[in-house]
Amino acid sequence: MPQGHSYDAVAHPRLGRTRPWAGLAAATLTLAACGGGGGGDVEAAAAYPEGDITFVVPFSAGGPTDTVTRLIAEPMAEELGGTIVVQNVEGAGGTIAAGEVAAANPDGYTVLMHHIGMSTAPSLYPELPYDPLEDFKPVGLVTEVPMTLVARSDFEPETMEEFIEYVKENADTVTLANAGIGAASHLCGLLLQEALGVELTEVPYEGTGPALTDLVAGEVDIMCDQTTNTTGQIQAGEIKAYAVTTPERVESLPDLPTTEEAGLPELEVGVWHGLYVPTETPDEIVQELTGALQVALQDQNVIDQLAELGAAPSSEEEATPEAHLERLEQQIELWRPIIEQAGVSAD
Ligand code: MLT
Repeated sequence: MPQGHSYDAVAHPRLGRTRPWAGLAAATLTLAACGGGGGGDVEAAAAYPEGDITFVVPFSAGGPTDTVTRLIAEPMAEELGGTIVVQNVEGAGGTIAAGEVAAANPDGYTVLMHHIGMSTAPSLYPELPYDPLEDFKPVGLVTEVPMTLVARSDFEPETMEEFIEYVKENADTVTLANAGIGAASHLCGLLLQEALGVELTEVPYEGTGPALTDLVAGEVDIMCDQTTNTTGQIQAGEIKAYAVTTPERVESLPDLPTTEEAGLPELEVGVWHGLYVPTETPDEIVQELTGALQVALQDQNVIDQLAELGAAPSSEEEATPEAHLERLEQQIELWRPIIEQAGVSAD
């Protein structure tokens, strides 16, 4: 599938809402203005937002990252008193979108939603056109999402035990869908192959939205994907599910064992998401975005919809630039040796 850009889903604003964090932002702005420096930034931040804010999603529309983004975009737009447009920029496991946002105007009008892939790309892509730590300012963590091990509905194994046996015996014919090198589905698939000691035929897509469509149609055999994408199809019986990749069972899919219960403790992945802006974005604007994110994550509709999809919003402490930066640094270090040992590269 070709890489591409597609715009969609405008979150409609409700102007003039009270922003509880606005007082703090205003105080910071006043101090900065008295200090004399960055007057243009201060004015821009005070007027922010004046036009549409674009949230860039690095995978296809209809997939898990897209779902989470659209869910928070509306309450964030309301809180900011502006309009958020969601744009899907697919390709290269999310690195094309991240590269575009790193090079965008640092004015708060281009915001990247990315997941765990932000921390694995430096180890996977030798020619990465950006540095996740140098070229972005983190806005805050958004959510944690479990992954599920799923298959087309007529895939032979019925249980996780049978799945392990079948995949080991038929490794030369089993196809494994993913959303490109560095995508969560790719990382989870890597861990699965390592745990089973097999090499499967990987089928890359530009997001697990289209990959799931093919799984339902029986075009590919198996996939590791986030509950935000698979819950509906699992509950409808359109695909088979074998396990969740988190230490605890997921409330919305209570019958699925954890991979640890099923004897694959190595296969543990939770997918964290965060918002980023280009590194030169004024702190005052980051603060506005963080404040709106925190309000969105306390929105009952967001909480309920995430819960239905097996996920949870990040806490107020996690939805901050500081906690987000700490997670990013920690995850870059965590994944580097795992990827090196697997000998995977996007070369
Ligand atoms: C997506 O939105 O398509 C996913 O997050 C892909 C993935 O990382 O597996």
